Amino acid sequence: MPDSNVIELHPSAAPLIRRLDYRPPAWRLPRIELSFELEPEHTRVEAQLWLEPDPAQPGAALVLDGEGLELIELELDGRRLSADDYRYTDGKLHLPGVSSACRLRSVVLIRPLLNTALEGLYVSGELLLTQCEAEGFRRITFCVDRPDVLSVYTVELRADAQAYPVLLANGNPASSCELPDGRHAARWHDPHPKPSYLFAIAAGVMDRVSTHFTTAEGREVEVNVWADAGMAARCEYALGATLRAMRWDEQRFGRCYDLDVFNIVAAQDFTMGAMENKGLNIFNARYILADIDSATDADFEAVESVIGHEYFHNWSGNRVTVRDWFQLSLKEGFTVFRDQEFTSDLRSRAVKRIEDVRMLRGRQFPEDAGALAHPVRPDSYREINNFYTATIYEKGAEVVRMLHTLLGEASFRRGCDLYFERFDGTAASVDAFLDCMREASGHDLIQFERWYAQSGTPVVTIESQYDASQRRFSLHFKQSTAPTPDQADKQALHIPLRYALYGADDQPIEPAPLTEHAARPGLIELRADQQSVRFENIKTPPLVSFLQGLSAPVRIDYRYTPAELARLAWIERDPLCRWDALQQLALPALLDGSEIHATALSNALGSLLADRTADPSFVALCWQLPEFEVLVDARPRVDVDAVLDARRSLLRQLAQTHARLLTTRYTELAQFDPDSLEPAPSAARRLKNLCLQRLALIEPHGARAFAQFERAGTLTDRLGALAALIHASAPQTNAALAVFKARIGTDLLLNDKWIGLLATRPAAEALDDVVALLDTPHWQPRNPNRVRALLGSFARSNPAALHRRDGAGYALLFSQVPIIDALNPQVASRLLGALETWRRLDADRQAMIEAGLHALRARGLSRDCGEMLERLLA
Ligand code: BES
Ligand code: ZN
Repeated sequence: MPDSNVIELHPSAAPLIRRLDYRPPAWRLPRIELSFELEPEHTRVEAQLWLEPDPAQPGAALVLDGEGLELIELELDGRRLSADDYRYTDGKLHLPGVSSACRLRSVVLIRPLLNTALEGLYVSGELLLTQCEAEGFRRITFCVDRPDVLSVYTVELRADAQAYPVLLANGNPASSCELPDGRHAARWHDPHPKPSYLFAIAAGVMDRVSTHFTTAEGREVEVNVWADAGMAARCEYALGATLRAMRWDEQRFGRCYDLDVFNIVAAQDFTMGAMENKGLNIFNARYILADIDSATDADFEAVESVIGHEYFHNWSGNRVTVRDWFQLSLKEGFTVFRDQEFTSDLRSRAVKRIEDVRMLRGRQFPEDAGALAHPVRPDSYREINNFYTATIYEKGAEVVRMLHTLLGEASFRRGCDLYFERFDGTAASVDAFLDCMREASGHDLIQFERWYAQSGTPVVTIESQYDASQRRFSLHFKQSTAPTPDQADKQALHIPLRYALYGADDQPIEPAPLTEHAARPGLIELRADQQSVRFENIKTPPLVSFLQGLSAPVRIDYRYTPAELARLAWIERDPLCRWDALQQLALPALLDGSEIHATALSNALGSLLADRTADPSFVALCWQLPEFEVLVDARPRVDVDAVLDARRSLLRQLAQTHARLLTTRYTELAQFDPDSLEPAPSAARRLKNLCLQRLALIEPHGARAFAQFERAGTLTDRLGALAALIHASAPQTNAALAVFKARIGTDLLLNDKWIGLLATRPAAEALDDVVALLDTPHWQPRNPNRVRALLGSFARSNPAALHRRDGAGYALLFSQVPIIDALNPQVASRLLGALETWRRLDADRQAMIEAGLHALRARGLSRDCGEMLERLLA
């Protein structure tokens, strides 16, 4: 459709940026020198840009990005410009008449203290920090703020020596000196050309832990983890994790670190989790600070994984960066795949895969089935910050995982090597990545590319047939993807589908299928809408199992009897499929009230819990029923109250049926080295706390949980017991909460956990606690971690409170979003994301949500929320 025929419903909305409109930059910027006079109220930024026109685009105007900058002076090749020489409007600085290579010097003032959006340069406690991805650098100085313009940076920081003793920037330290008036200066030089979004500085009073790492290439690297004064002891774990990440990337991907120093800074105010700025990663403090009193076992694992993720970006993102933001998954999906592999290699691969699949099904499948569906490589956006999504990250990682499955480790690794080598120091695209994978492996990936272009989760419907006279077993596959709001027509995808057949003796049968579709034994490549495979010489009807390790991000529709699922849960060799068989038993039990499924599930869980040879972490994961989002995702319509009731009563029923076993295992596991942070004791703790939480549902006096709470030597055990008490509404709950509160004092991260516990209590009344907290000093709407702890956890993890029948949950969300939006649009916009599946709810709830969304839209919020509302209402 030609543009002129498109009727813009909301003409005030931000312009739509389209992938196919990409043009290479008209101006290059090979070198940048920056000098900062750091002050929280006013920071003076002097920039020198060495600009060069692209010879292929002669005459292209010179237009720079700049958001909210107070322009003090501009100089072109040493000549001071007057107001007639330029125009600065709507975030663009136009410099008409400039047509050849030049040096532009600018001086601007910015105001870090007023920066609540936490993009650009801002104040966090005693620190001055930056966050530039995706388009924050333009809030610091005039520049070409796009990822395909790479520059070599030299940065000078000047500040009061007492208030800002530590001065950090990207790259290597070059020099430092004392200045008059108690100020000092530090110069940094980053030899690796980088896009502006990887720029960073950090200044202030910080303590550090420090060590050395020798790379496989023989480079000596100083590694530092910095945090607020007094927090150094809590950085030790992060420092160790950094070394593990550096070593792992050398061993598994052959990638070495490339500077003399690697700095990581922990910040209490940070919108996202962490950021991979070159040589100077900046982290949300919750992914750095961790010791036995402040972090749970899950927190330690998360710290290690996020440290790994940001470190791995040094190659997948920094050395090879992205051409435009449509290619975001090229760095994020790939790097999530890399961090998943890191955790799998260091910890339990089975447990990690189940956790990742839970996340995929709980967050990404609903996103792909709801109002916000978009491809891994989107076609358009209005606000790029809205596209740091589960689809870009989690589905993007699954797509890379499928390549790994199709190519095998050796070819995949050759493809990665080729990609890093060919595109080192440049900005690449998804297509370029796929080309490397194709060249290195000889695999045809033309159809595979659709995984990047097409949104929605495919369904693979499977039918099986056993012909006893011919001893022949056949499988018939049909694939289809339902239309999504962003894309009506869908095409067949290239799906690597693992499978296994089991014989009457419960042993795997390893037959070669009689079709050309089989890549390797146990792997079928689906490409067409319909496909079949045949297996000969099969003596009895086999039990067939699909998608080992979740070999593709698809849904399988295959009619298993409850007995078959229970058998699979026991005999399947693949842990992900064992876990999934139990999930598949739980769905009809919860959604259709199927007693047969509930009984089969209960029996299977009983046997599993009794099995002392099974990994306790795995058992604990199997005992977790599908979360609310997964239940919503399983049916086109959801009766919220019925689903929550069913889940509550099945949990209770399982606890009752297995009370004795739960008690025995609780007691056994409690004796197992309870205060050690090693893998085996932490796996034991996971199952022990699961047992405790289930038992608490049928022991409402809560004595067992209270005893554990008082004895606990780890935060995992203390919080586990507290959660058990709260979820069971046990009489000692308030006493325990008071003890916990007194113990944690003013520690911010621990207070967030306390807030999170209250906000996720599975009861409609939890909403009243959330509302009450808004009137206490705990409520700090400027701090993203506080907003997430209170409103984020309520909106995303407390369906009973969010979907309250009286609409009070929605009302709270709708009243808070504009307040947060005025401070930090990214955080506000993410809160709205909690409503992505609202059209599956009943008519009353839909009506309340629709009215609320319309009212918000009428208020004219930020570009972030504006785009979100438009898509939610479309
Ligand atoms: N590059 C991102 C951080 C980011 C996200 C910057 C959005 C600007 C906007 C970083 O590498 C990242 O992906 N962080 C994740 C955590 C990670 C472990 C998945 C995050 O912040 O949530
Ligand atoms: Zn990332």
